[in-house]
Amino acid sequence: MTEILLNLTTRPIPFPPEAHDRLQVEAREIIARYPHPRSALLPLLHLMQSVEGYVSGTGIEFCAEQLGLTDAEVTAVATFYSMYRRTNTGDYHVGVCTNTLCAVMGGDQILADLKQHLGVENGETTADGMVTLEHIEC
Ligand code: FES
Repeated sequence: MTEILLNLTTRPIPFPPEAHDRLQVEAREIIARYPHPRSALLPLLHLMQSVEGYVSGTGIEFCAEQLGLTDAEVTAVATFYSMYRRTNTGDYHVGVCTNTLCAVMGGDQILADLKQHLGVENGETTADGMVTLEHIEC
């Protein structure tokens, strides 16, 4: 008999209480700058990314809690904008544009050289956690 376990209740691990409280103070300062709390979502996502290096499930939940939004609403925004990383990022985040103009100026070759030099593919981080390489478009 084959047993398939499917856990649909997995929730992100919340921030530790002291970190949560400190972030909540910062979040309230940010939210106070806007006439409507939900208008503070982008800066709150930036705050989450500055804390963890990317926007984690914990960060999504935190933003939703602060703004009275659902996790799905926050996730939709976080995944729409390419400036928000959804996976762990190295100490240095290197983006190479390969749009037509930049490709003509050598963007494709620079990206290829960096992939070879760093030993990573697009979106990956070096084994030492120092550099995340990403193909971007302006
Ligand atoms: S086209 Fe590459 S930075 Fe604008």
